[in-house]
Amino acid sequence: MKKIFITRMLPEKSLIDDLEKYFDVDVWGKDYPPSYEELIIRSKNCWGLLTMLTEKIDKNFINKTQSLKIIANMAVGYDNIDIAFAKKNNIVVTNTPDVLTNSTAELTIALIFLMSKRLSEANLAIHKKEWKEWNPTWMLGKDINGSTLGIIGPGKIGFAVASLAKKLNMQVSYSGKKEKKRFPGNFLNLNELLTTSDYISVHLPLNNETKYFLNYQHFKKMKSDAILINTSRGKIINQLDLEKAIINKTIGGAALDVTDPEPLPYSSKLLMMPNVFISPHLGSATKKTRYKMAKLAVSNLISFSTKGRAPNKIN
Ligand code: DGY
Repeated sequence: MKKIFITRMLPEKSLIDDLEKYFDVDVWGKDYPPSYEELIIRSKNCWGLLTMLTEKIDKNFINKTQSLKIIANMAVGYDNIDIAFAKKNNIVVTNTPDVLTNSTAELTIALIFLMSKRLSEANLAIHKKEWKEWNPTWMLGKDINGSTLGIIGPGKIGFAVASLAKKLNMQVSYSGKKEKKRFPGNFLNLNELLTTSDYISVHLPLNNETKYFLNYQHFKKMKSDAILINTSRGKIINQLDLEKAIINKTIGGAALDVTDPEPLPYSSKLLMMPNVFISPHLGSATKKTRYKMAKLAVSNLISFSTKGRAPNKIN
């Protein structure tokens, strides 16, 4: 029987049962990921892997695990895997597109609400015993209705965010490589988007082109009360530049569901800033969505083994 290694317990045991009909299944049962070394050891002699975004699959890993034919990554993003080198070694890589689009878009909108109404900052103030009598000028936030949202990266998640934002009567614009006819928003170049948006939401995949893409030069162009939202990957933003931009009041604040690194060290300056909200990579974190992601990864393994075809092949 072909051997597969699953790098974390899946949301439902029935998914493992499905795999056991076809494979000799080894599951990493801990609630933290295997170390790089442990991953290499457990992947030896495996035909396939079901990985999470926490697993680094690089050239060295691929060279050391010669038997692999498929890596089914339980994420839409696959920046944790050297796709080109996998292809060169005839390893199919799959991802889990579409099923997490709405959950991630909803979280993005939740972060826009949270930042606009300063909810986290206000809650923090209460914990610091700063809540006095009702005050007409205290903790004033911003309206969402009529405000402008700039989307960087008009892919499926960016599209879903734009559609929700339109329902809130936000003016939506987007920037990307080219204009997209059906996108619910105006196509702008990045400069225009940065200078005109009240909220800027990042929806780019992480790759060599987008790594540390947003930096101080970009923050300087943004409105001084603009809010930056990132639910894509932490490394797309130069985080030290972002810290500087918040400290200097170059921009109004940021809500980051993704950081560099993850988890963000508790000593990070960003965690001390009242106008920065950090959530622990929750974009796809709903029961339904995580089940669908795992199911898709499982289907790719089974389909590739039985039909020689993986529906969500990316390389
Ligand atoms: C993904 O699938 O890439 C997400 O970041 C997981 O939440």
